[in-house]
Amino acid sequence: MTARRSGPLRGTVRAPGDKSISHRALILGALAHGVTEVEGLLEGEDVRRSAAAMTAFGAKVERLGEGRWRVEGKGGFSEPADVIDCGNAGTGVRLIMGAMAGFRLNATFTGDASLRGRPMNRVLNPLGEMGATWICREGGRLPLTLRGGGLRHIAYTVPVPSAQVKSAVLLAGLHAEGGVEVIELEATRDHTERMLRAFGAQVDVTEESPRRHIVLPGGQSLGGTRVRVPGDPSSAAFPLVAALVTPGSEVTVEGMLLNALRIGLLDTLGEMGADLSVTNIREEGGETVADVTARHSALEGVTVPPERAPSMIDEYPILAVAAAFAEGPTVMRGIGEMRVKESDRIALMAAGLAACGVGVEEGPDSLTVVGSVRGNHGVAGGARVTTHGDHRIAMSHLILGLASEEPVAVDEPGMIATSFPGFVDLMRTLGGEIEA
Ligand code: S3P
Repeated sequence: MTARRSGPLRGTVRAPGDKSISHRALILGALAHGVTEVEGLLEGEDVRRSAAAMTAFGAKVERLGEGRWRVEGKGGFSEPADVIDCGNAGTGVRLIMGAMAGFRLNATFTGDASLRGRPMNRVLNPLGEMGATWICREGGRLPLTLRGGGLRHIAYTVPVPSAQVKSAVLLAGLHAEGGVEVIELEATRDHTERMLRAFGAQVDVTEESPRRHIVLPGGQSLGGTRVRVPGDPSSAAFPLVAALVTPGSEVTVEGMLLNALRIGLLDTLGEMGADLSVTNIREEGGETVADVTARHSALEGVTVPPERAPSMIDEYPILAVAAAFAEGPTVMRGIGEMRVKESDRIALMAAGLAACGVGVEEGPDSLTVVGSVRGNHGVAGGARVTTHGDHRIAMSHLILGLASEEPVAVDEPGMIATSFPGFVDLMRTLGGEIEA
């Protein structure tokens, strides 16, 4: 798939449903007693895998219409008859392992080549302290078989900033004797805490910035509810940055989630001089959403504060693209977690940008994009970029291609459907020239 230099991008679009919230809606719906109706669910591959997994664990999951899903939970999981294949989804497998660990049953998990290469120890360690057991490949890799049940209370300090680890422990804690406590040294996305409350659970959070202490008392059960999934800021980032770097553009993304723990990218782009406006701020289903408009801007390089990383961890690839069109260097530090995402995103962004003529410096947990020396529209492009099947690496380089001098191609564009199935159509609607 190839993106080429395009005229002004213009229009108003909706971002697809938030991936993090979509996974959680299905999993909590399956853990709950009764019916959960979900609106605006992301129908990407990752979330569909979680839907199939919830069926395998005994819930009744039905698609009622576009983005409208019904989950009927039994208040617990039963043993699946086959292997649970979570595809590319780290969030799916880690949260489902946590949820499943509360029940006395065995389940075997696997995923695609990327997921089978990712570390699961970060979730298995606390689940093991609670009493779960497993057998897995070297280094805590999938496939693995987990045996749950009989869990005890722990007070767990999450060693790396990870909402997936925090969420796995909280979901396991629902069925642990005495509940569970989680201490975060840096705050990460709080969708699990918010959604547990929406499903009727008590979750007490004490903030001592940047630390958060979360207490989930034991002996709680969840009741089905309605969930309205807001637009994913991690997906909205692509059309918004495309507008910032393509001359003459103005693009509005409606209904974007504005959770403070997810919008570090907006702060960073603002510091770079981006012309962004946030309007129509409203509350929807326990989250703040808004319409966000981006206009083509003369960007300047910045140093991103490392403590901002958890609030934009999935957005560094597209930030690196914005930085390629900015004047002066953009320094991103404290981003080592990017190396254990769907791919090693520091390495692949450094390689892809370098192949497109952008100056980059890669460190163990940092990436510096030197920025354009030829003004705001001076990225050469003209490369075919290796994505290792990573959806965000593919989308980032296609956005780069919309504003670079020569076209940019990506391998494995099919993987974009894991998080943003309508990406190419949406970008074409705005005027982006992307060819299959
Ligand atoms: C997610 C948490 C983040 C993020 C991922 C979604 C979640 O991962 O990168 O795309 O929904 O909890 P980590 O928990 O590994 O930081």
